[in-house]
Amino acid sequence: MLVGEGPGFHEDIQGKPFVGRSGKLLDDLLNEIGLSRNQNIYIANIVKCRPPNNRDPLPEEQEMCINFLRNQVYIMKPKIIVALGRIAAMRIIDQNIKITHDHGIFVNKKNILMMPTLHPAAVLRNMSRKEDVRKDFQNLKNKIIELGIELGQM
Ligand code: URA
Repeated sequence: MLVGEGPGFHEDIQGKPFVGRSGKLLDDLLNEIGLSRNQNIYIANIVKCRPPNNRDPLPEEQEMCINFLRNQVYIMKPKIIVALGRIAAMRIIDQNIKITHDHGIFVNKKNILMMPTLHPAAVLRNMSRKEDVRKDFQNLKNKIIELGIELGQM
């Protein structure tokens, strides 16, 4: 399971996560490690609608949506959750996380392995970070192999 921050303009219109430019980069990163959205990968967001002017979702907005995400996790029962970006990483992994320092490292939380990584939109703004995010996805691939997770086609 991948968890982003919240829908952007295109996602809000289509009602699907990561369909814009960030989504294209996300697809590329998945493809590089031999994965695609057509496998049993589930993508969710912390907040479920786009905050005004695309600002960061406020803590109270995150609180309003968090039970929805909890239910998504309960239903999907992911073995691994990748938090895409600072907002998701702070909300679901650790309030004090420093994404530039802690990205790529797995932590076990309530028996789910969680890894923070950079948000694709942040990488698009600063392409020098692409190598970092690629390494994180390589860590993800290694973890999937280590756990023997089979990702069938859907
Ligand atoms: N950014 C996010 O955090 N989530 C999306 O679904 C799209 C862009």
